Amino acid sequence: MKISIIGSGNIGGNLGKHWAKVGHEVMFSSRHPEELKSMADEVGAKTGNVEETAAFGEVILLAIPYGKVPDLAQQIGSLDNKILIDAANPYPHRDGDVAQKVIDDESQTATGYVASQFPGAKTVKAFNSVFYQVFAEQAFQEGDDRIAVQVCSDDEQAKETVKQLIEDIGFAPQDLGDLSKGVLFEPNAPLYNKNLKIGEAKKLLSQIQ
Ligand SMILES: NC(=O)c1ccc[n+]([C@@H]2O[C@H](COP(=O)([O-])OP(=O)(O)OC[C@H]3O[C@@H](n4cnc5c(N)ncnc54)[C@H](OP(=O)(O)O)[C@@H]3O)[C@@H](O)[C@H]2O)c1
Repeated sequence: MKISIIGSGNIGGNLGKHWAKVGHEVMFSSRHPEELKSMADEVGAKTGNVEETAAFGEVILLAIPYGKVPDLAQQIGSLDNKILIDAANPYPHRDGDVAQKVIDDESQTATGYVASQFPGAKTVKAFNSVFYQVFAEQAFQEGDDRIAVQVCSDDEQAKETVKQLIEDIGFAPQDLGDLSKGVLFEPNAPLYNKNLKIGEAKKLLSQIQ
């Protein structure tokens, strides 16, 4: 698949490299794309500015600071019919009012807000709940050794595509249901940053449901 990485830092850089290694076509974005060239060359990926990268992929991984999402949406415009994977987490100390408002608004989930900024996209929440070093160091495992990656969406087909992308790089998708279930793996929620193997993650879920 053609995958755009918007925000090629700890999360985007590691996931994009893994996907390129297993044969996906990857473009990394930066506000300074020339600085990503050696990382991209290592795995045969492309680099671009934010607009070029948003236009490139069928799937967009959004891995930037949550507070920058509204400005980014203004900058790149619509992502109509693309799959948008939201990996961002709202932290008021880093993301200011954008994060605080969504935390205070009980009618809104973190990824629900991101989806509202890209109304034509098929939004999937994934990769928010696993520490980046785990993505870097524990990819390409098999069976019960795989670390669980929580995922949810209102679009079943888009979610299936993202679950396959999780499996492609040796992690285990843990499907929690529709987008409202994102509250289970937002910051401070029971499944947030536990970095569990899939069997342990399922057990924990059964204990909290
Ligand atoms: N770190 C983790 O373990 C972890 C785990 C799960 C989820 N997350 C979430 O994932 C997101 C990314 O985290 P990270 O640790 O990967 O952050 P990071 O290493 O700081 O990378 C974020 C990238 O976003 C880009 N960026 C920053 N502001 C931008 C803007 N206004 N427009 C476009 N691009 C912008 C930066 O690229 P340039 O400077 O090159 O443009 C930077 O490389 C955050 O929301 C975080 O909460 C992090």
